[in-house]
Amino acid sequence: MKPLLSKWGRSIAVATSLSIAAFMSPTLMAGEEMEVGSVAVQANIAGLERVTQTLVAPPFLPKHDQVAKGGPKIVAMTMEIVEKEMEIAEDVFVQAMTFEGSNPGPMIVVHQDDYVELTLKNPATNTMVHNIDFHASTGALGGGGLTNIAPGQQVVLRFKATKAGVFVYHCAPGGSMIPYHVVSGMNGAIMVLPRDGLKDENGKLTTYDKAYYIGEQDWYVPYDAEEDEYKRYGSAAEAMGETFEVMKTLTPTHLTFNGKVGAITGENAMTAKVGESVLFIHSQANRDSRVHLIGGHGDLVWQGGSFNDTPATSLETWAVAGGEATAAMYTFLQPGLYAYVNHNLIEAILLGAAAHVSVEGEWNNDLMEQVEKPGPIK
Ligand code: CU
Repeated sequence: MKPLLSKWGRSIAVATSLSIAAFMSPTLMAGEEMEVGSVAVQANIAGLERVTQTLVAPPFLPKHDQVAKGGPKIVAMTMEIVEKEMEIAEDVFVQAMTFEGSNPGPMIVVHQDDYVELTLKNPATNTMVHNIDFHASTGALGGGGLTNIAPGQQVVLRFKATKAGVFVYHCAPGGSMIPYHVVSGMNGAIMVLPRDGLKDENGKLTTYDKAYYIGEQDWYVPYDAEEDEYKRYGSAAEAMGETFEVMKTLTPTHLTFNGKVGAITGENAMTAKVGESVLFIHSQANRDSRVHLIGGHGDLVWQGGSFNDTPATSLETWAVAGGEATAAMYTFLQPGLYAYVNHNLIEAILLGAAAHVSVEGEWNNDLMEQVEKPGPIK
């Protein structure tokens, strides 16, 4: 078995020594199948109950128990990789790569010590090699080294969810294809709940009435100055060269919450009622962010996304490092339309990193009251 680092280093070296034109071959940078070597421990799954999880498009989560019933299970699910053109803002199109056709990909929910068994399918109609790297897993590049599949192939990966928290997953097929696939939309998150549920700052069980998954995505869309419009391409391979040039500026042209500017606003806004506790899971697979609920707070915030750590309390804004997911819980106390934003307000308002929560209920004058309406200065 070749040392991991040399394999990784070589693929990066190859990526930087070739011209962009060389990347037009969709399979050139594909990772190789990794050999795991001699096996010392076999999977401890004999007799475990097997359940199937039906994945749903974000911001929703699959049906799940907050406190696990019974012992560890094998939780099986299927994801299909979908390469497709997506409109990420009005009249702005990208050649997206997605898990299950959405950006972000669907949230998976299990409990600590459950086994996740994913069947990953890369339909023959796709053009690229893909795989999946689960930050919640252990070994083989997060599973990326064992899941490289060409169009027309499928693979089954099983891993034990040993760490409780929220974690990113993303495609990582090797070399420059890693950032290209990630910023083309190919990422999502998994929530691994403690078996006995979430705990507040005092270690007491706490539950949510609703949970939403917000996947923040940075996009790098080439611009045609002569035509004064964003460029549109026929395929991901065709878009690659010019997109790389924009990516290297590290300045996204668009930032979206769930695949399109304004996706979680208006009729698609998140909803809650006064008195309800809402868990917001926020992921960013590539770039730092900072989440703020305007007019509310993070009552409990699992910084870095780890559920076995004591949550921080009463935060105004919480950081999301590139490559992680975080979770924050808030009990709404006032009705109205709340903006849920990346609090770099340029990124929120001018680039698109904003969503809405529509909260029903009755106003509390003790918390806030307009004592006098706006009027002439006296
Ligand atoms: Cu991919």
